[in-house]
Amino acid sequence: MKKPVIAIDGYSSTGKSSISKIIAQKLGIIHLDTGALYRGVTWFALQNCLNDDGSINLQSLFSSFDEIELEFKNDNGELVLFLNHIDISKAIRTNEVSENVSFVAKQKEVRDFLLQSQRSLAEKGGIIMDGRDIGTVVLPNADYKFFLTASIDERTKRRYQELISLGIESNERQVKENLIIRDKIDSEREIAPLKQADDAIVIDNTSISKEETIESILSYIKNI
Ligand code: C5P
Repeated sequence: MKKPVIAIDGYSSTGKSSISKIIAQKLGIIHLDTGALYRGVTWFALQNCLNDDGSINLQSLFSSFDEIELEFKNDNGELVLFLNHIDISKAIRTNEVSENVSFVAKQKEVRDFLLQSQRSLAEKGGIIMDGRDIGTVVLPNADYKFFLTASIDERTKRRYQELISLGIESNERQVKENLIIRDKIDSEREIAPLKQADDAIVIDNTSISKEETIESILSYIKNI
C-alpha cells in the first residue's frame, strides 16, 4: 500500500517542523522541512554572493546554482540537509539567515531551482513536507493538507525559546519583528505565496499544546 503524502503549511513558528517530525516518526514516513532548503540557499548567498554594501547580489546567486549541491541524509526519518557536503543544520537558524530568507525565497529563480527536488522526494509517497506552498504548489495532490496558525505573541514565545535552546543570542522584540516581516513578504509575494489551500484543514494551535496539535492531525489521517 502506498504511504501517505502529507502537506503542512502555515505561518512562521507555528510548530510545523517539530510537529511534522513527530508525525513522520509515528507513521514511519520521512519528513522534509522545506524552509531549510530556502534557508540553505540564503546561507550560501550570504557566504558567496554579496555586494560591497553587504546585501545579497541576486544575479551572482542565480548564476551560482550549479555550484550548490543539496544533499539529504536520512537521520531516523528526518532528512538532514547538507550543502556542498557541509551540515548546515545549525548555521541556517541564525538571525542573519532569518532576516534575509524571505527576500531570497520570493525570487522566481530560487523557487524554480528548489521545486523539482521537493517534488521528486514525494514521488514514492511516504512523506510529510512542511513549508508555505506545499499544499498549493509543490504537492497540490497531497493526500492530506493542513494549515497551521497561532497568535503572533505565542509564535514569538516559541521561536525565542527555540533560539535559546540552540544557543543563538536574540531578544523577543527582534524575533517578533522578524516573524511579522517574513509573514508579510511570504504572503504578499507573487510566486507561490503563503496561503491556505482551499482543501486544507486549518488548525489554530495558539491555545493547544504541540501534542494536542499532533493528535488532531493524526485523527484526520486515520478518519478520512
Ligand atoms: O519554515 P521556515 O520558517 O524555516 O522558513 C523560512 C523561510 O523560507 C520562510 O519565511 C519563507 O520565506 C521560505 N519558505 C518558502 N516556501 C517554503 C518554505 C519556506 O518560501 N515552502
